[in-house]
Amino acid sequence: MIDIADYKTVAEQSVTTWFKAAPVSAFPANGGACVLYKGKQIAVFNFTRRNEWYACQNLCPHKMQMILSRGMIGSEQGVPKVACPFHKRTFSLQTGACLNGDECAIATYPVKVEEGYVYIGFEE
Ligand code: FES
Repeated sequence: MIDIADYKTVAEQSVTTWFKAAPVSAFPANGGACVLYKGKQIAVFNFTRRNEWYACQNLCPHKMQMILSRGMIGSEQGVPKVACPFHKRTFSLQTGACLNGDECAIATYPVKVEEGYVYIGFEE
């Protein structure tokens, strides 16, 4: 059973493993999909409008739902964000901070795209 404590933000400079998640085509434009890494569900977003990629825990900390990959993505004052479909908590895709003022934050992960594949950075 995966717990919130299993998710920890990884900074780009601490990446020790680049996990080859899936081909770019597996991720809808301006949308997300969920991948599994060592039992952890990771939400990956193809933010086409910004020409950027983001990854975060799929677990919404509000009611502990595995759902964020199905959230709506957008920008708030330049900050890319995802809104949980259940109760509309929004989280920064850069820092993981909750933008509604709640304490709960989410873990975020570096993403890179190489030769048509999406990689997510983890610290082992
Ligand atoms: S479960 Fe995500 S906002 Fe409530």
